[in-house]
Amino acid sequence: MALLNEHFLKLKAGYLFPEIARRVRAFCEAHPDVAPRLIRCGIGDVTEPLPPAAIAAMHRAVDELAARETFHGYGPEQGYEWLRATIAEHDFRARGCEVADDEIFVSDGTKCDMGNILDIFGAKNKIAIPDPVYPVYVDTNVMAGHTGPANAAGAYAGLVYLPCRPANGFVPEPPKRHVDLIYLCSPNNPTGAVATREQLEAWVRYALEHRAVILFDAAYEAYIRDPALPHSIYEIPGARECAIEFRSFSKNGGFTGVRCAYAVVPKTVNGHTRAGVAHPLHPLWLRRMTTKFNGVSYITQRGAEALYTPEGKAQVRALIEHYMGNATVLREGLQKAGLRVFGGVNAPYLWVKTPRGLSSWDAFDKILREANVVVTPGAGFGARGEGYFRLSAFNSRANAEEVARRLQAMRW
Ligand code: MLT
Repeated sequence: MALLNEHFLKLKAGYLFPEIARRVRAFCEAHPDVAPRLIRCGIGDVTEPLPPAAIAAMHRAVDELAARETFHGYGPEQGYEWLRATIAEHDFRARGCEVADDEIFVSDGTKCDMGNILDIFGAKNKIAIPDPVYPVYVDTNVMAGHTGPANAAGAYAGLVYLPCRPANGFVPEPPKRHVDLIYLCSPNNPTGAVATREQLEAWVRYALEHRAVILFDAAYEAYIRDPALPHSIYEIPGARECAIEFRSFSKNGGFTGVRCAYAVVPKTVNGHTRAGVAHPLHPLWLRRMTTKFNGVSYITQRGAEALYTPEGKAQVRALIEHYMGNATVLREGLQKAGLRVFGGVNAPYLWVKTPRGLSSWDAFDKILREANVVVTPGAGFGARGEGYFRLSAFNSRANAEEVARRLQAMRW
């Protein structure tokens, strides 16, 4: 008899985005006449073609693979040195952050990294997770057996939830109690909030005092427009001793279908044995990667490298401007519709309060039915997401304008 991982049985329903897709499919089957006018602002998936610099680099890489002299088989599991060096230089050292080339680990996605990183942590950590937030943090901890069962609101026993609400600008404060592992996401998915320097300083102080580790998800860093806001946790003194940062090429280079991301694991971040002996996490993550991963394809890594060329950078900037232009259109449309809206200024997500106490799934259904627009119900991001919905700015400009019009035409 093969025993299964019973922790999976604690998970609530399906993962958020497949569940939305299921409901949308059912709606389209029931209303085939409206299906063609459906506009999807649910999952934060990019819509615009890849930057030409990345396309050209990937074509060249394919040609290299076509000749014996330039062929590449397995690459280094943690990424090619030329890509790790380019990332460390452009994303960190050029911004005054001390990060060495071999502290960069190239991967196939931040979602995967955020789940996989749990391999190198023990089972008894007290884990703090913002609420609402990207659901992968909670679900991967449930799967790993780090929680008890969920209550009726979907909150899991054993986790320390960090409330994110209008009063704290949706940026959580360090808790009064002790925790060992802290998830932070800035710019935040789903609220669009960005932690200030002072707020990150408070977290780094807390982590150093408690010998905790911060898992800092900066997948949307490229959307920060306010020059006062930090792009990396390593802008904060002390972060090299307590934080692992995660970045992605999905939302800047449009690589959601190409798959490339990276984690920064400074050699100075330690975990501890049960006996209290400090041990650097870097060699554990290296061991994990070399054992369980065979690296991102050569073609993909060449594409990612091209995003750092002068043309690549300009093309990425244009993509971000495009999506942030959509965010402005949507934000103004929602405000004209009389809705209370957060985010969409330094992030591609808008976080909207449902009117008249509508639940977030009721708002999802109403918007789908009346405007034929797909949004993401806030409750899917945690119990404190109830009463909100998220609108993604990843779309064509024409669609963003149409969504803004339709939301204003609705009877709220
Ligand atoms: C989202 O819509 O929250 C994101 O697309 C999810 C992801 O990046 O995995």
